[in-house]
Amino acid sequence: MIVCGIVGYIGTRLAVPVLLEGLKKLEYRGYDSAGIAVIEDGELVLNRSVGKLHMLEGKINGDAHQGHVGIGHTRWATHGRPSDRNSHPHTDCTGKIAVVHNGIIENFLELKEWLEENGHVFQSETDTEVLPHLVEHFHQGDLLRAVEQMVSKVRGSYATVVLSEDHPGTLVAARKDNPLIVGLGEGEYFFASDIPAIINYTRKIMVLEDGEIAVLTAEGVKVYKNGSPVEKEIQLITWDTKAAEKGGYPHFMIKEINEQPRALRDILTGRIAPDFSGVDLQEVSLTAEQIKNIRKIAVVACGTAYHAGIVGKYVMEKMLRIPVEVDIASEFRYRNPLIDAHTLTVIISQSGETADTLAALKEAKARGSRVVAITNVVGSSIAREAHDVVYTWAGPEIAVASTKAYITQLLGIYLLTLFLGKELGRIPAGEMTDILHHLYQLPKQAQDILDHLNEQLNKMAEIFNQWEDTFFVGRGLDYAVALEGSLKLKEISYVHAEAYAAGELKHGTLALIVKDVPVLALCTQPDVFEKTVSNIKEIKAREAHVIGVAFEGNKEIGKSVDEVIYIPETLPLLAPVLTVIPLQMLAYYASVHRGCDVDQPRNLAKSVTVE
Ligand code: AGP
Repeated sequence: MIVCGIVGYIGTRLAVPVLLEGLKKLEYRGYDSAGIAVIEDGELVLNRSVGKLHMLEGKINGDAHQGHVGIGHTRWATHGRPSDRNSHPHTDCTGKIAVVHNGIIENFLELKEWLEENGHVFQSETDTEVLPHLVEHFHQGDLLRAVEQMVSKVRGSYATVVLSEDHPGTLVAARKDNPLIVGLGEGEYFFASDIPAIINYTRKIMVLEDGEIAVLTAEGVKVYKNGSPVEKEIQLITWDTKAAEKGGYPHFMIKEINEQPRALRDILTGRIAPDFSGVDLQEVSLTAEQIKNIRKIAVVACGTAYHAGIVGKYVMEKMLRIPVEVDIASEFRYRNPLIDAHTLTVIISQSGETADTLAALKEAKARGSRVVAITNVVGSSIAREAHDVVYTWAGPEIAVASTKAYITQLLGIYLLTLFLGKELGRIPAGEMTDILHHLYQLPKQAQDILDHLNEQLNKMAEIFNQWEDTFFVGRGLDYAVALEGSLKLKEISYVHAEAYAAGELKHGTLALIVKDVPVLALCTQPDVFEKTVSNIKEIKAREAHVIGVAFEGNKEIGKSVDEVIYIPETLPLLAPVLTVIPLQMLAYYASVHRGCDVDQPRNLAKSVTVE
C-alpha cells in the first residue's frame, strides 16, 4: 500500500480514541478501509472495516476499550481490493502479532510461497500479510531481533509498526522509503505517517530515516540502524492542523505537484526489468496471441485523463505502428464506435468512477473488445469492470485539478506501450533499454524542475493578472501537452486559455492574437522544431508576448520568444512528463495571484459520477 496512514500509541491514555483521532487526520492519505489493534487485558484485540473511518468507528463505539498500547491504519489499496479481510492490521497464524504497513513488498509472492512451505496460512490478498508471518517465523522472545530479521528478508518500500501480545509494553517500527515519525509526549509516545495524526498531543518529533528501526516503550524511544543505537535529533513542529494535512503546503494542488517525483518513482517500482530489457506488467494478462491480433487501439477518457490519452495516441502509433483512436467518453458511447474483438480499448480515469468513462468501458466490452484500464483507485467501478488494470499508484488526489494522476497516467501509457511493443517485437532491444534508462531519470528531473523553476513561474504567472485570454501552442506531443496546460489554467484561474496545434493558427485563430497577449509555445520535439519556430514568428508578427518551453541547452529558442522556461532534457518521446510540470505550476500561481479557490474551483467536482 503506497500511500496509507499509520499510527501507533503507547502511554497512559486509552489507546483507541488516540488511534481513531490520528487516523481521522490521516484519511487524506487513504480512505477505502481501516483498522486498529490494541492490547487489552494481555490480549490482542483487532477491529477492521472496509469503507471510510466512520464504518470502523461504528464497529468499535460502545465497546469499553481499556488498552493503552495499539496500532492503527487507514488504507489506500494497491494489492487486494478494499475489504474487511484485506484491511490492516494483519496478523500471524497465532493471532498474537499484528502489523500495519505503508509501502509495497515487491518480493511478497516469493516470501508467501516460502512461508506457506513452512506451514503458514494466509487470510488476505495483500502483500503486507507476509510481515506478521515473518515476525512469527523469526520470533525467539526478542521482538526487535525478529523485526530486524523480517526487514532483512523484504525487498521494496515500507513504513511498518509491529505489536505483539507477548510484548504488551512495546511497539517496534521500521522504515524504508515511506515516511514515519515518532512523537514524543510526556510519558507517552506515538508513531505516525505524518504530523497531523499527533499534532494535538505533541509538537516534538523524530523523523525516522531509511533503514532505521525504532522501539517505543512507556520509558521512551530507542532507535537502531544495522543493530547499533542511533542518536536522533528532536524537531519542534510549529504548523497548525489544517496546514499539517497539506504537509505545510498552502494548498493540496501544490502539495500534489510536489509529490510527482515520488509518484513517478512509485509507478515504476517493480515494473522495469532489473537489466532494463523490458517492462514487467504482471497485471496485464493479455496473451501473446491476443496481442498479435490487435488491429486497433481505442483510448477513451474524460478531461485530463483524455489529454493523457492523446499523448498515448502519438506514443503508441509511433512505437507499435497500430492505429489508435482517442475519444472523449461522452462522445464515444453514443457514436456507435467501430470497436470489435480486434480492438484493445484503453480506459483512463483517476477516480475510476467517472460515469461517462465507465459507460464507455461497458460499451467497448459489449462489442467484444479487450479492456485495459489505467486508474488510480483500487476496487473502483472501472477497475472492477476492466479485464486488466494498470494502477497508477499516485495516492489520493484531493485537489480537483488533476496533476500527479495525469503524470502517472502518462507513465502507465509508456509502460503499456513498451510491454505491447516487446511482445510484438516492434521495439529493438537497444531502443528499449535507452527508453527505460530515460524513464528512470524522470523522477530526479521532475524534482529539478520543482527545485529550480518555482520562483520564475511564480513571477511569470503574474501576467495573468492583466489577461483574461491566452493561448497554448505546440506540434505533435507538445500539442497534446498544450491541451492539458490550457485546461489546468482554465479550471483553477478562470483565464480563458485555448490550446492549438501550432500549424493550425493561421487557419483562423491567428485573428485573436493581439499585442502583448500571452502565448505559451511548447518546443521539445526536434523533428518539428523549425516548423514550430516559424509558427512562433507568425504569432510574434502580431506582437504577442511569447513564452517558450524548451529543453535546457536549446540555444535557438531564445532568439524567437520573449521568455523561456527551460526543462531538463529527456527523449522527445518522454517530454510530456516534464513539460507539463511548469504548466501546472504556472496555472497554480495564476490561480493564487487571482485569489481563486485553488483546490475547489467553482462549478467543478473531483469525480464526475453523473452523465
Ligand atoms: C482535471 O483536472 C479534472 N479534474 C477533470 O477534467 C478530470 O480529469 C475528469 O473529470 C476525469 O476524471 P477521472 O480521471 O477521475 O475519470
